[in-house]
Amino acid sequence: MTSPAQASLLHLDASIRTADSVTRELTGHFARAWRRAHPSGDHAYRDLAAEPVPHLTHAVREALLDDGYQGEDHGASPAERALNEALTAEVRAATTIVLGAPMYNYAIPSTVKAWLDRLVTPAHLVPPDGGPALLGGKTVVVVTARGGSYAPGTPREGFDHQEPYLRSVFASIGLADDLSFVHAELTLAAVVPQMAALRPLAEKSLAGAYESLGRLAA
Ligand SMILES: Cc1cc2nc3c(=O)[nH]c(=O)nc-3n(C[C@H](O)[C@H](O)[C@H](O)COP(=O)(O)O)c2cc1C
Repeated sequence: MTSPAQASLLHLDASIRTADSVTRELTGHFARAWRRAHPSGDHAYRDLAAEPVPHLTHAVREALLDDGYQGEDHGASPAERALNEALTAEVRAATTIVLGAPMYNYAIPSTVKAWLDRLVTPAHLVPPDGGPALLGGKTVVVVTARGGSYAPGTPREGFDHQEPYLRSVFASIGLADDLSFVHAELTLAAVVPQMAALRPLAEKSLAGAYESLGRLAA
């Protein structure tokens, strides 16, 4: 019988704001609660806004296709290969991942996309025969914040290109076994006068996000 993996949290933020960021505040809340529940667990942190992962190049993609770099270096620089290895290693080591993803233009920040582009490799794709995925079995919590609301029945219900996209891409690499989304909506109501009437709904959404994250981290 194999012993269970050491509990390890990978905490990722992507807001371009360092002050007043709702996603940073919420992922921090999750991380604090997770650490209380796992006092001897490991905790890795990556700020995709402060240190953006560069866009893919052909050389980097070729190196990623050759997982472990057993063969050629494909023209990717040692620094690029080291970054691929670091990004891959921290995801593989994590038992829980919390990702803060603000909504930018109805979608995820491009910094999150650049991070994903390095993770979707043949080594990580769920095997077509349904066999176990290398990244399978992890708990993944995505925390989004949006200025508006995309809840069922709202005028922009179909404009949420965060959750459907992330569900698809995480499923393709085995990160959807235990995947949850927590949304803080209407965050712009606090600062946009025309949205003042929506402030009670925004506060309710934020309170619900804190409550859900506390439960998910326990
Ligand atoms: C570049 C940019 C694009 C945005 N696009 C949208 C959008 O499409 N829909 C929306 O509801 N809010 C949008 N917003 C508002 C943010 O989603 C909102 O302020 C959210 O709270 C940002 O996350 P943060 O608080 O963690 O920084 C946008 C904000 C920025 C800076």
